[in-house]
Amino acid sequence: MCGIIGYVGSKDLVSVLLNGLKRLEYRGYDSAGMAIKTNLGITLLKSEGKITNLESIIKEQNLAGLDGNIGIAHTRWATHGKPTTINAHPHSAGSISLVHNGIIENYQELRIILEEEGFKFKSDTDSEVLAHLINKFYNGNLPQAVEKALNEVEGTYGAAVISKEDNMIVGAKKGSPLILGIGSGEHFLASSEIPIRDHTRRIISLKDGDIITITKDKYNIVSLGQRQEREIETIEWDTEALEKKGYKHFMLKEIHTQPETLTETLRGRIEPNKKNIHLGGFDNLPGEYFEQLNRIILLGCGTSWHACKVGKYLFEKTLRIPVAAEYASEFRYQNPVVNPGDMVMAVSQSGDTADTLAALQEGIRRGGVPFGMVNVVGSQIAREADKGIYLHAGPEIGVASTKAFTSQVLAFNLLNLYLGIIRNKISDEEAQDMIVAIESIPSKVREALLLENEIKAVAEEYCNHSNFLYLGRGLNFPVALEGALKLKEISYIHAEGYPAAEMKHGPIALIDNNMPSVFVATEMNSSCSKIISNMEQVRSRNGKIIAITTEDYSSQIGPLADHTIYVPNVQEYLSPIVNVIPLQLLAYHIADMKGLDVDKPRNLAKSVTVE
Ligand code: G6P
Repeated sequence: MCGIIGYVGSKDLVSVLLNGLKRLEYRGYDSAGMAIKTNLGITLLKSEGKITNLESIIKEQNLAGLDGNIGIAHTRWATHGKPTTINAHPHSAGSISLVHNGIIENYQELRIILEEEGFKFKSDTDSEVLAHLINKFYNGNLPQAVEKALNEVEGTYGAAVISKEDNMIVGAKKGSPLILGIGSGEHFLASSEIPIRDHTRRIISLKDGDIITITKDKYNIVSLGQRQEREIETIEWDTEALEKKGYKHFMLKEIHTQPETLTETLRGRIEPNKKNIHLGGFDNLPGEYFEQLNRIILLGCGTSWHACKVGKYLFEKTLRIPVAAEYASEFRYQNPVVNPGDMVMAVSQSGDTADTLAALQEGIRRGGVPFGMVNVVGSQIAREADKGIYLHAGPEIGVASTKAFTSQVLAFNLLNLYLGIIRNKISDEEAQDMIVAIESIPSKVREALLLENEIKAVAEEYCNHSNFLYLGRGLNFPVALEGALKLKEISYIHAEGYPAAEMKHGPIALIDNNMPSVFVATEMNSSCSKIISNMEQVRSRNGKIIAITTEDYSSQIGPLADHTIYVPNVQEYLSPIVNVIPLQLLAYHIADMKGLDVDKPRNLAKSVTVE
């Protein structure tokens, strides 16, 4: 949700900023821009649309190789003001140029005051207010002007500011991420460590309230007027994860590398005796906490919320305690009931989703014990929670989440086992059986990926339909929701996920031969006949059926479905991991056949850092 990068150093400035923006494009791609400081002053370059447009402008102006060594750049996901060139960042006022990720909530009041004082606005954005405020307070001391301006604003920011006069970048963070990269004779500021890792592995994740100044050789972090000493972290992921490696899209690569990413999620977590689970992120809590735990609240958005729904199902079945899986965006505003000591777990690929972070903070405020299930190490949610489980799935670049979901479901399985053992709900033998099943998951996913050609054929037949229904029961209901979300996100086809048995209470009215239904029908021991009758209901209304099932049900489902995709048999709790693979591939191939930009679907962004 908007990405910023700032650089001070002696490398080719325009290339560092441009390549950084390309790495950050998953955060937004409505418009982009940069401000570069040279001995001639500050040059502003902006364009509507994707970064390639900005790149063309730079080429036209023959700016690559320009002799500058300080610059800031931004890729935008519009919140206030249309995605036009005028509204693209950087915003300038007087000698100040600024890039901003976040929302200035009191911008309207501030704008009125500033306009009365004679400041002239060019854009419709909230961010321009901040540029004018800094300019207003600037009297030769840039960090001080930034601090004074921030005292006036309400809202969130990850911002980077330069001036014509100063050889430095000033950054500030509150609510939106901002990372310092420490190189040799160069420093970086960015919304994530992804663009920084091309240059250095040494980073500091800034904290809310920090104001940082970077020059070529030094950095200085100040919070509440005090200089801060912070530990330098080392980034572990390699940059290979950031390349497509021969795949047409990142999403396709991320779908296909799930056997490996799931293996990473498991690494070091199964005890050698195969009777227990090791979760290092839970070490700092006494065992009694989990023994006495009597409520769990899971919080997430989008795909992560679907994983929470799987988690709820597992935990309630095994642990027999109430579990809530809440939309993070709703939780905060519904006066939620949190009992002191409740486990409040924020689930997020990016670890930066503003709604999820805010919901976790609300849970903490009400006495809950915070946990995170996060992919990005050191992200805001990871730091806020301080306890939890990392997914270790590597960077996910495709905006539609795939490998994070399967790793989340696997992590929920590990956690379920861990808690079930502590609470004596799972015997040694059961634990061993589950662990064997868990260890087989990467190879089962590899088998499921072999279904790709079959799924491509289905995609070809249905890619021009305008509506889809995805149906499943129990654990397969969140899988149906996830399948529908994938299709909506990248192919812009309307798709609804529904519990199969609820279909007759409404969506059945939509069914005709133009509305295919995708049934996720694997775990059906007690509900097989019910799902079969739901399929009959669709067929009798001329609806087409695409069934995801296992060979076990071939005789019942085969004759009813127009297309049957047989996924490998796995233990029930792990089935969402395998069942979602054909749905990811179906959405991918439909979007690709429609010629859409799979990795950067319109209007979406990967890390939604505004509420
Ligand atoms: C955005 C993305 C979704 C994602 C959701 C939650 O809306 O477009 O694909 O599932 O955010 O992201 P998180 O990083 O918190 O898992």
